[in-house]
Amino acid sequence: MAAIIQAQELRKTYKIGKVDVPALRGVSFEVAEGEFVSVVGPSGSGKSTLFYILGGLTKADGGRVLIGGTDFAQLSDGERTRLRKSKIGFVFQKFNLLPTLSARDNISIARDIAGRKSTPDDDAHFQKITALLGIDKRLDHRPSELSGGEQQRVALARALINRPAIVLADEPTGNLDTKNSDIVLNMLRQSNKEFGQTVLMITHNPEAAAFGDRIIHMRDGEIVPAAKDPQMPYDPAKH
Ligand SMILES: Nc1ncnc2c1ncn2[C@@H]1O[C@H](COP(=O)(O)OP(=O)(O)OP(=O)(O)O)[C@@H](O)[C@H]1O
Ligand SMILES: [Mg+2]
Repeated sequence: MAAIIQAQELRKTYKIGKVDVPALRGVSFEVAEGEFVSVVGPSGSGKSTLFYILGGLTKADGGRVLIGGTDFAQLSDGERTRLRKSKIGFVFQKFNLLPTLSARDNISIARDIAGRKSTPDDDAHFQKITALLGIDKRLDHRPSELSGGEQQRVALARALINRPAIVLADEPTGNLDTKNSDIVLNMLRQSNKEFGQTVLMITHNPEAAAFGDRIIHMRDGEIVPAAKDPQMPYDPAKH
């Protein structure tokens, strides 16, 4: 299958005063359309930096990201934003919900922001994913009236509502208990298998990583072979 995400020699160094903090030191990989890829690595290995660059939220110092063959950096700011909103759904570790809006509005605002009019088919999709995520009875509540797990499920519904080709998730289960983690991971798997969405999920947790078809291991801003990652005894081929 064609590559939907191509990362080519990505480099990023943060500058704190006079000190350079290298976060990515030349990261290259491809994700095929319809794949579910997990990215694991120790704290500080550059996973979130990679997430922000792949999603076009941060610029790399070097290298390229191609999404569906299109180079983000070649686009105008407006075109890049449009591509991001139509093609990519984001899930963040800290949910990033709008506190004054109900769960329902937090989800449907993603549709409004993408400039889409709601069709009956969209409404059916809304109902399907909110029911699958078990938040259909909580839609009139604001984030402060929801548990962390419910908030993350709302955030996931928001990411999926536009049926983006790509779902990027940075530690989506990092703040959740086992039950909520399972709901979120199963939904990601279902988005991948049933809805055909490409998923790239960053996680610390080997059991969560095993939900992916393939695991990319990062260390010190580079991709390393699985054998060099002592945190990962899991062989995805066996799961
Ligand atoms: N905004 C920033 N300014 C300066 N340094 C940063 C910034 N963001 C990240 N870094 C540094 O870049 C490196 C990679 O950080 P990054 O957040 O990508 O790691 P991570 O793998 O996501 O870690 P974690 O598992 O803790 O979330 C770290 O050394 C970090 O301290
Ligand atoms: Mg991170």
